[in-house]
Amino acid sequence: MIRSVIQGIGSFVPPQVVKNEDLARMFTTSDDWIQTRTGIKERRFAEEGTSCSDLALEASRRALEDARMQASDLDFIIFATLSPDHHFPGTGCYLQSKLAASHIGCLDVRNQCTGFLYSMAVANAFIRAGVYRNILVVGSEIHSSALDFSDRGRDVAVLFGDGAGAAVFSASDEEQRGILYTELHADGEFARALHMDIWDISKKPFISQQTIDQGEIWPQMDGKTVFRHAVTRLVELVLQTLKRNGLKPEDIKYVIPHQANLRINQMVAEKLSMPKEKFLSNIHKYGNTTAASIPLLLDESYRTGKLQRGDLLLLIAFGSGFTWGSALLRW
Ligand code: ACO
Repeated sequence: MIRSVIQGIGSFVPPQVVKNEDLARMFTTSDDWIQTRTGIKERRFAEEGTSCSDLALEASRRALEDARMQASDLDFIIFATLSPDHHFPGTGCYLQSKLAASHIGCLDVRNQCTGFLYSMAVANAFIRAGVYRNILVVGSEIHSSALDFSDRGRDVAVLFGDGAGAAVFSASDEEQRGILYTELHADGEFARALHMDIWDISKKPFISQQTIDQGEIWPQMDGKTVFRHAVTRLVELVLQTLKRNGLKPEDIKYVIPHQANLRINQMVAEKLSMPKEKFLSNIHKYGNTTAASIPLLLDESYRTGKLQRGDLLLLIAFGSGFTWGSALLRW
């Protein structure tokens, strides 16, 4: 049986560190408010002129280096983001050009915080069907250009940061390694709980000074609804993933959760009676980097020696859409 294994992994965050205190100089908030409610201490913001595909390029180069591969070895690119370089074409095409990985197919995935898991599931299906052998899966975000740094947008602005993570998934005949299982969900009934209205194609023209003045260029979030559903869905998801695979919580070495809010992940661990230490975290350094957060955390955990060959990892995410999903990955 063909499995999809991570052949190489890499990540990149822009150098500029923005601490909670820096945000408190821009609008009414405090380090204490942000840390207590989210666990975030700082995040990275990209300089003006940097595109989502630029961050992705650095992460991809590192993943290729780790895989000891060249861009020319890739068969396909899957690019997950909610902050594409442009409305179209897909950001995967920009990345392909920057990598000089000519003529291979590129697919953009627009599933927000669950984007990397959706992309992994697609890569896994292609690889297991024998269509492609080496697929670059990237999650990359530049949030800092699209946050409202005024009191009106402070609930959202404190949460997000910029960054990218990438992994090369390759076909392998090692049956016990790689992606063992994936599960994807969505509930469009809650599409409006976390959304951005700009690019409303029903409007003619679809962007106007009026829509800009009305604040439609900024993300809108019903934080409490997102929080409540995230906890409920993630607990159900973990139980279902374990059950469908005949596993117990103790079989999982680490949970690699999407980094939206430390309190969400701690509450999920608590409700599952799993040790909080099993839920790895780096949100204090990067905030929520949406599609980048899972590969960023995986890469960091791997490079700091936390992950050992054979560890069973459970990747979980919940986000705008609502979308949510899980993957079981044998490292
Ligand atoms: N600093 C200080 N005060 C603030 C801030 C801020 N940044 N933001 C809001 N407040 C105020 C509010 O105005 C409110 O004031 P009031 O009581 O005078 O009305 C008070 O703080 C409490 O606000 P709540 O919204 O009740 O705060 P809550 O405890 O719900 O925390 C938070 C807000 C952190 C946003 C939380 O709801 C949350 O994390 N939700 C989940 C968000 C999330 O995970 N989003 C990402 C999903 S992933 C994706 O797909 C992109």
